[in-house]
Amino acid sequence: MLAVVPPPVTVRVPSKINLHLSVGDLRSDGFHDLVTVFQALSLVDEVTVAVTDDPGVEVYGEGQDSVPTGANNLAWRAVQALAAYVGRDESEPKVRVVLRKGIPVAGGMAGGSADAAATLVALSALWRLDIGRDELAGVAAKLGSDVPFALYGGTALGTGRGEQLVPVLSRHTFHWVLAFDQRGLSTPRVYGELDRLREAGDPPRVGSHAPVVEALASGDPRQLALLLGNDLQAAAVSLRPGLRRTLRAGVNAGALAGTVSGSGPTCAFLCADAQSAVEVAAELAGAGVCRTVRVAHGPVPGARVVGGENDP
Ligand code: C5P
Repeated sequence: MLAVVPPPVTVRVPSKINLHLSVGDLRSDGFHDLVTVFQALSLVDEVTVAVTDDPGVEVYGEGQDSVPTGANNLAWRAVQALAAYVGRDESEPKVRVVLRKGIPVAGGMAGGSADAAATLVALSALWRLDIGRDELAGVAAKLGSDVPFALYGGTALGTGRGEQLVPVLSRHTFHWVLAFDQRGLSTPRVYGELDRLREAGDPPRVGSHAPVVEALASGDPRQLALLLGNDLQAAAVSLRPGLRRTLRAGVNAGALAGTVSGSGPTCAFLCADAQSAVEVAAELAGAGVCRTVRVAHGPVPGARVVGGENDP
């Protein structure tokens, strides 16, 4: 009897920005304790997994040449982690992973983490695993601090390394413009630069996350704009001084406020509404301060199967 090969599964997964990112001191395990408010944005990657006799990873789209396709690709590590978790004992799972990237690589928007989260969701469908999102989040957290958030999406408060999540009420849609830089920034380097800046002086720290959570509930982008804050911004700007100009250009173009996204170098600009975002994007694209510009909105849901029950 012929074995039935299951059809490929495609998952769409959001990027993230940090509306608030408070970084604590360096822990003994090399990580920093965070208090962060994540928002998932409509700038997405799509990940397809298929059964194959030629296992591996292919990458297309935004930054495709700078994504590793070998064993250290985070999506491939997700394949191995899930195979081990469910006791599939192949040394190399017979899976091909195709990444279609819209999220900038090493851009501070958790693109690699998104691909890992999408791979977990896609593979659980491909392998018909009976495994819920909360259980997948346990596997996700071992792959990287931002991977669990990409599973859930929406807006969430993250603590610990960023992997412990509580949903935040945010019924309104916010409109963003994203400015991609010429090159990526290494996340460990940016955290290291923050440690260095803190040893050398006492750079100001963002305050409590509570006002941000209130502004999200109110839905007023003007209120939220006053409260965006990121402790990693000073470190990203220190390593990439041109970001100062980018941040200024976005506000000059009509954004309510701008912030470095996560560890950067992508800058995220909050706009008053969808129309304003289109106008800000057009003006920023002509200002010569970044490689490319995108419009996005949030919050959006986490990783989910394209064409699945919940697909609009
Ligand atoms: O968890 P993830 O692999 O995304 O982290 C990448 C690097 O970012 C870590 O090795 C660490 O240097 C830094 N990091 C940190 N504190 C966090 C998250 C990440 O120092 N909470």
